[in-house]
Amino acid sequence: MTLTRRPRRLRQDGVRDLVSETDLDASDLIAPVFVDATVDERRPIESMPGHERVPVDESVARVEELLAVGVESVMLFGVPESKDERGTRAWAEDGVVQRATRRIADETDAYLITDVCLCEYTDHGHCGVLEDTAAEDPDVTVRNDETLDLLSKTAVSHANAGADMVAPSSMTDGMVGAIREDLDAAGHDHVPILSYAVKYESAFYGPFRDAADGAPAFGDRRHYQMDPGNRREAIREAELDVEQGADALMVKPALPYLDVVSDVRENFEHPVAAYNVSGEYAMLHAAADRGWLDLEATAVESLLSIKRAGADLILTYFAEDVADAL
Ligand code: PBG
Repeated sequence: MTLTRRPRRLRQDGVRDLVSETDLDASDLIAPVFVDATVDERRPIESMPGHERVPVDESVARVEELLAVGVESVMLFGVPESKDERGTRAWAEDGVVQRATRRIADETDAYLITDVCLCEYTDHGHCGVLEDTAAEDPDVTVRNDETLDLLSKTAVSHANAGADMVAPSSMTDGMVGAIREDLDAAGHDHVPILSYAVKYESAFYGPFRDAADGAPAFGDRRHYQMDPGNRREAIREAELDVEQGADALMVKPALPYLDVVSDVRENFEHPVAAYNVSGEYAMLHAAADRGWLDLEATAVESLLSIKRAGADLILTYFAEDVADAL
């Protein structure tokens, strides 16, 4: 038998790297950081080993640790000192994210992105203003249009504090347009919007809800986040956000939705981000703890796969460790 075509020729050491199609670089990674107004020292997050909620006073130090290993971008999440029905601490000038943002923007060179949502700030844990009947009728909980103004106030307050980019994550229809308009009116026409355009109602967010203390008190998020079985709808969601002025599009979660990452890549010229969410992180850790998986190898392979599917940037809790390993 004469075999003339041998793919294995290009898998030999020396040439393997030369022909590799996908590269993972620390500059593609965004690290989530949780700033907590209720603590005065760092508190480990049990379901997310290696991650902590940090007080505002520690936020600069935390970002410096990330910069030191080559992670240049961070996504800030806040845990406020108090919560109420409308989530008013989300847009407070002295809110937890606003205070941390001012410090990080003043004292570091990190590229600072803020998550814009109300679920960590409302006492009911939903991502917007509730219908009066919400507690009894969980099919209709959040009032879409009334929520828009609160989201754009939040985004403007983040930009005022010095955020480089804002990332609305509430799946409110029209959120990108509302935020764009108000950012521009406030003189922030240079602040890009990274829209969580395609966000599924996913069980993989479990550990995050512990981390950010944002689990809904009743009901679920099915009437605003996407149905996990829907693929074509992702294109419609992304189209709407592009029309409203989104600068970059995010798909979330990442690994269970690589087909969707690929679709968004194929259909749009915009940068595509993917969010390798808390559950994707926690499950590798849990398996590695039992000696069932190699943590670093599976983390790197996960991120590489997300890039191969079409993501330009990846939000991941592995950012620090993977950047350090690269
Ligand atoms: C807030 C928000 C959530 C996540 C990011 N922003 C929680 C949710 O929608 O329930 C999840 C992130 C993760 O699981 O890592 N709306």
